[in-house]
Amino acid sequence: MKQYDFVVIGSGIAGLSFALKAARHGSVGVITKRKGADTNTAWAQGGIACVTSDEDSFELHVRDTLEAGAGLCDERVVRTIVTEGPARIQELVDLGLQFDEREVSGHREFDLGREGGHSKRRVLHVQDVTGKEIEEILLRDLRRQPHVDLLENHMAVDLITAGKLGFATEDRCLGIYVLNEKNGEVETIRSDRIVLATGGCGKVYLYTTNPDIATGDGVAMAWRAGAVIANMEFIQFHPTCLFHAKAKSFLISEAVRGEGGILRNNRGEDFMKRYHARGSLAPRDIVARAIDAEIKRSGAQCVFLDITHQPPEFIQERFPHIYETCLRFGIDMLKQPIPVVPAAHYQCGGIKTDVNGATSLAGLYAIGEVGCTGLHGANRLASNSLLEGLVAAHRAAEASVCARPPSHTAQKISLPKWESGGVQDVDELVVIYHNWDEIRRLMWDYVGIVRTDKRLQRASARLRNLQREIREFYWNFKVSVDLLELRNLATVAALIVDSALSRKESRGLHFTLDHPETEDRQFKRDTLLSRG
Ligand code: SIN
Repeated sequence: MKQYDFVVIGSGIAGLSFALKAARHGSVGVITKRKGADTNTAWAQGGIACVTSDEDSFELHVRDTLEAGAGLCDERVVRTIVTEGPARIQELVDLGLQFDEREVSGHREFDLGREGGHSKRRVLHVQDVTGKEIEEILLRDLRRQPHVDLLENHMAVDLITAGKLGFATEDRCLGIYVLNEKNGEVETIRSDRIVLATGGCGKVYLYTTNPDIATGDGVAMAWRAGAVIANMEFIQFHPTCLFHAKAKSFLISEAVRGEGGILRNNRGEDFMKRYHARGSLAPRDIVARAIDAEIKRSGAQCVFLDITHQPPEFIQERFPHIYETCLRFGIDMLKQPIPVVPAAHYQCGGIKTDVNGATSLAGLYAIGEVGCTGLHGANRLASNSLLEGLVAAHRAAEASVCARPPSHTAQKISLPKWESGGVQDVDELVVIYHNWDEIRRLMWDYVGIVRTDKRLQRASARLRNLQREIREFYWNFKVSVDLLELRNLATVAALIVDSALSRKESRGLHFTLDHPETEDRQFKRDTLLSRG
């Protein structure tokens, strides 16, 4: 049986940052489903929001974050993350990350981008490939560490807890079962400190800006282990995903609007002016809903993002990745508006944690998108997530190093080997793919940008049936990545629906026609779910 001082699941900005810090204190196993760089982080285009300019202030960044969060942010957490940001950014720079700079009155300073909901330019970026650069730099450093094992093509199956093994009075994390995709075996790994950094759950929806790995694995595992889950109704839909039959999940960064891009409907109107004073740069929830309304009203399939008024050299220099990708699909953004639609982008809720990533289950931490610290509230401010990933990883590393070790009894609990189901029945694999599609379609149709009680109830009933079927599969067949992801998707979909059903008001990203008002007295609190 493998054993590590720390086990990290996920290899995005949060997981890798944690692993690099933890490696100074002990052995670390980093488990990742595909290749190390197959992460949400690597797809992040916009950048990292952080106060670095004299024209900006922590106070303004805090205010913008609270405003976007629609009354549900934890102000203490917001202040901590905003004020600790610059030190964490400096660490990235020290590792060799070169954010874009510009010349101002004879000296160099960061070339800061603007995005929706920000009152100042404050987004550090590397052209439009910030996440890819960060991922490469962190992975490079990680591969040099002598005490770190990077286990690629390994998928976490379930957490092993004392409670599940019958020691309910001392419930805590003791280890994890992991599927080694190369040989199909499920391995047992022992560790007192397990860190979930698995990202979000965009793949629960038919249309998403997320990569294929975003199947809600961390939230689903934590739920099964009994940890508290918060605010899953708040799924952020990014307003501008490329609309093209062959383009899968390609994001058109909000930075395009930050640099003057204007959203137009099929009649060429700058329609956002009718919805918000900030026009195309209004907060994301408002822009996504406005696009949804325009599309439904006009019967058009998409709206358009127009930046053709900017100089071609500027567009090519600032957005090389977006420019080239659009061109590959026959769209020249220098000369024509880009067709766009909203798509699922970010999970604002997640496993409930404190600002150090500690969950309700001892020994279990959750950082990055999978965790819910209280930073995002009911709607995340653009580019705050990479910042949160860095700060939470640093704090979780410090907290887990100092955490009280498990009791002698817990240390002596022996971890059982994984019991596999029967053999795989190839004929039945069609059911797995059918259920995948069904979940993603029903979530898109019934649990999307605009919700109603009736649609949510319909979704809930269908999901219960699907979960029953999946459970049967799970116990009868040998586990595979497809089956594990399907089980996790179904669990997370049900958590989103249950959370949405319990919030009888509209707030931030949760908008329901049956309760269109924001009810300040009754619902100004988190939605908490736990298996108990
Ligand atoms: C974007 O580039 O528009 C994405 C930034 C974010 O979601 O924070």
